[in-house]
Amino acid sequence: MENALIYLDNAATAWPKPENVYRFMMDFYRAAGVNPGRSGFDLCLEAGTLLDGLRKRMTKFFGGDEDAPERLCFGYNATDALNLMIYGLLSAGDHVVTTNLEHNSVIRPVNHLVRDGGVQATFVPFNGAGFVEPDAIAKAIRPNTKLVIVNHGSNVIGTVQPLAEIGRICRERDVLFATDTSQTAGVIPINMKAMNLDVLAFTGHKALMGSMGIGGLCVRKHVTIRQTRSGGTGVNSVYPYHLEEYPWRLEYGTPNMVGVAALSAGQDWLAENGIEKIHAREMKLAQKLVDGLREIEGVHLYCCDRLENHLSTVALNIDGMEAGDVGTMLDMDYNIATRTGLHCAPLVHKQLGTVEIHGSVRFSIGQFNTEPDIDAAIHAVREIAAWSAQRKTTRQSPPVHN
Ligand SMILES: Cc1ncc(COP(=O)(O)O)c(C=O)c1O
Repeated sequence: MENALIYLDNAATAWPKPENVYRFMMDFYRAAGVNPGRSGFDLCLEAGTLLDGLRKRMTKFFGGDEDAPERLCFGYNATDALNLMIYGLLSAGDHVVTTNLEHNSVIRPVNHLVRDGGVQATFVPFNGAGFVEPDAIAKAIRPNTKLVIVNHGSNVIGTVQPLAEIGRICRERDVLFATDTSQTAGVIPINMKAMNLDVLAFTGHKALMGSMGIGGLCVRKHVTIRQTRSGGTGVNSVYPYHLEEYPWRLEYGTPNMVGVAALSAGQDWLAENGIEKIHAREMKLAQKLVDGLREIEGVHLYCCDRLENHLSTVALNIDGMEAGDVGTMLDMDYNIATRTGLHCAPLVHKQLGTVEIHGSVRFSIGQFNTEPDIDAAIHAVREIAAWSAQRKTTRQSPPVHN
């Protein structure tokens, strides 16, 4: 179809989803969309089997403790999971080390605890290439550091952090280590045991190819997360407090079974396609995009000189233009969807010096993008950059007097 939308906003949410995901969500909800764990009739057990099967599957997928799949707890999204983790682990007097690469779903709960809860925090900067140096984390750790949280993959500049090295440092110092895998789960292999990760947060609607409204935590056996909410679990209703046992400890109310179905089908799709292949395909397109953009005068790319340990996310600005205006032109004139602004990651932009120009334009490539999509994006940026350069020249030209 001519002039169809070119969707390059997969870091916001992967779209479209694989066909089997749409199909299974609908089929499952129609056939067995009952409340699991509440009753003993067959359909209820079938729903419970899907839910608990997914705990097992995702525990294995993340390299968690396979003999404790109940510690894979579902919530609404990564933000919800990170809040449960941060409020459930930190107390007054604790220090937390995190980074300038974090999303507001880490920055804000941490800042609230610093402002209102007697917690201390250190935000470690990234280096010029966009990576957090393990040594910088080591230096930030204090005697009262309880937790280190590192964003596995930046949703702005796309760099993938050296979790295994940071994990080793945390384990040696007996500090808990957690990560936010919102951008990496489904494209970068993760193994909590090998990476010495104690807690991992995920969201279902990005590269895991599930739906919106589901995410969660994978918590290793030796970690205790305090409950910060309470309510119905469908189990032991006479007990006046929330259950301490997992998964109920971190789950509240009716689960999102449509999301569970979507995430299960997403796991099927990932297993069938292989995440290494999925990532390689996206990175081939990312390399083509970066190579093309690099040639364009007036275009500034951030942290993608080399695309090793990188996601298929590319941020840029064009000389003389605000990021938002570039995004509007891409949308209105070329039907290309990107995301502009600060991307809920203000510290990245503070460090890059891009707050004043209202952030950057982010192109994020997904599984269903094609080479022609990338050609179209390069062509559009070339035209916009040329327009901007010409506008500058025209504006700056002195008036001609005859
Ligand atoms: C790195 C990172 N963390 C957390 C989130 C929040 O995810 P959600 O909106 O699904 O809670 C996002 C979403 O863009 C993200 O990119």
